[in-house]
Amino acid sequence: MKKFARIIGTGSYLPPKIITNEDLEKTLDTSKEWIVTRTGIEKRHIVENQSNCELATIASQNALKAANISPKELDLIIFATTTPDKIFPATATVLQKALGASCPAFDLQAVCAGFIFALTTAEKYIKTNSANKVLVVGSETLSRIVDWTDRSTAILFGDGAGAVVLSSDLNAGILNTKLLSDGNYLPSLQVNNNYINQHGFIQMSGNEVFKAAIKHLSILALETIKENNITVDEIDYMIPHQANVRIITAIAQRINIPMDKVIVTLKDQGNTSAASIPLAIDKAVRDKRIKKNNILLLIGIGAGFSWGSVLLRF
Ligand code: UT7
Repeated sequence: MKKFARIIGTGSYLPPKIITNEDLEKTLDTSKEWIVTRTGIEKRHIVENQSNCELATIASQNALKAANISPKELDLIIFATTTPDKIFPATATVLQKALGASCPAFDLQAVCAGFIFALTTAEKYIKTNSANKVLVVGSETLSRIVDWTDRSTAILFGDGAGAVVLSSDLNAGILNTKLLSDGNYLPSLQVNNNYINQHGFIQMSGNEVFKAAIKHLSILALETIKENNITVDEIDYMIPHQANVRIITAIAQRINIPMDKVIVTLKDQGNTSAASIPLAIDKAVRDKRIKKNNILLLIGIGAGFSWGSVLLRF
């Protein structure tokens, strides 16, 4: 019998400290108008003393509560992050202990596409009967790898965590997944560290990333729609990775989906990398836009480049 992986609970958490565009004007050669018109971002949340795992723990607890299951029922934890608290152990195992879970737990690194890659991996575990309940987390403390003197990147990023609980379901759930990677893009977006200089910062050719994101995500969204024999009208919400509102509107135009069917959180959160999609899902679930049985199209792209889509019935 066909088995699906279905989202049964969502949760998120943003650290309390907020940095506004006005704050950035004081330290960088920029203006609040430039930032908001070029990116759609007005503010972002930034950690002060919290670790990535602490953000992930609260988001996960919220997701478990919404799913109405205990941590002991989890069969697997997948933690998508670009900013693990340590090189090792995996932040996922620290999260496992913090939650009081006892299942296997591992980190997954696909930068801003991390949540899409993690959700896809979790789905395969459920479909092959290797797991029944899986916690998938996207959580980041990007503020720790931002060069706060570089106006081309410092304005973009924020910290936060989002989580979903997946459960096997005989009726509906994840319908399709697609993953792609192309390592030729390495110079366009990377952290300039190595094992000698451990603490690096995000370096980005913003305009190259901007154009590639629109191109690859539009093609991928259109392919996903076509291969699944659905029409754009059947999609209730598109939830893209939140990098730049101009990227999101350009993709929406190309695939012909109205913006009121696109979840956008950039204004208040900036780009939270692997956390942006689960944060957006949780926001739209809690404000009651996303409802049970809605068809959702998730798309994300990040450094590597790696990109992917997940089509699901909520
Ligand atoms: O999650 C995936 C990773 N990241 C992304 O997807 C980000 C993708 N890229 C972007 O969002 C945009 O490329 C940026 C917001 C980073 C930049 O916007 P843009 O429209 O691509 O601008 P640009 O890089 O072509 O720069 C235009 C001008 C330049 O000045 P000149 O050379 O025209 O004199 C920049 O130096 O804007 C300047 N500039 C700024 N000016 C004021 C760059 N950053 C700023 C700034 N404030 N913060």
